[in-house]
Amino acid sequence: MTSIHRPLHVACIMDGNGRWAGHRGLPRTAGHTEGEENLARLVRVAVTREIGWLTVFGFSTENWVRPRAEVRHILGLHEKLFGRVAELNELNVRIQWIGRPFDSPSARTPKYVQRAIRKAIADTAGNTGMVLTVAFDYGGRTELMSAVRAARAAGETITPESVNAHLYLPDVPPVDVLVRTSGEQRVSNFLLWQSAGSKIHFTDTAWPDFDAADLDAAIALVR
Ligand code: FPP
Repeated sequence: MTSIHRPLHVACIMDGNGRWAGHRGLPRTAGHTEGEENLARLVRVAVTREIGWLTVFGFSTENWVRPRAEVRHILGLHEKLFGRVAELNELNVRIQWIGRPFDSPSARTPKYVQRAIRKAIADTAGNTGMVLTVAFDYGGRTELMSAVRAARAAGETITPESVNAHLYLPDVPPVDVLVRTSGEQRVSNFLLWQSAGSKIHFTDTAWPDFDAADLDAAIALVR
């Protein structure tokens, strides 16, 4: 088994909020609300582990087709998450965002979410601990196509290094462990380039219930 002894990069596909709510007779939106709360809890756990990078899939380029009320609710949760600046500063966590640039032709991120994202990035920029990267309006294929186009437009030969240099966030290191909750065993267009060599931890636990023990089980794949 490979054993990695540097701060890890853990990436999470936070699936199962809707089913978690359904099992409790609650609306799907309640599951997303609990999912956001659980992410805040998990960040507190992650900073106590040897995790340097935690990347989470908050909203994909494909998620816009969900019912409007659900999309609006998830957008509001992103505003809430990026508004947790005091908590992030207390934990020395730097937050950043990965996704389709706001000014790209097909991007649809509303201004209030853009503002919350920009403010949180600026207000946590000086933190030196774990980096929390939130994927919002993110799709791996779109990222890769734009990187290849940018490399080509710059007249560069297409190499792993040149493609990497044109990713949305070139400094994000390779993913060590990719987690997907709630029983689905798919990668869903998440961090396709960055997780080329990663271990994968699938668990039946729904995202709102994913806790410290689950995180430790995922990390155990590489430690
Ligand atoms: C999957 O649940 C989760 C999402 C579509 C992403 C939204 C995630 C959250 C709201 C968690 C909080 C995170 C942030 C970044 C604010 P699902 O609806 O696909 O669940 P289901 O498969 O059970 O229907």
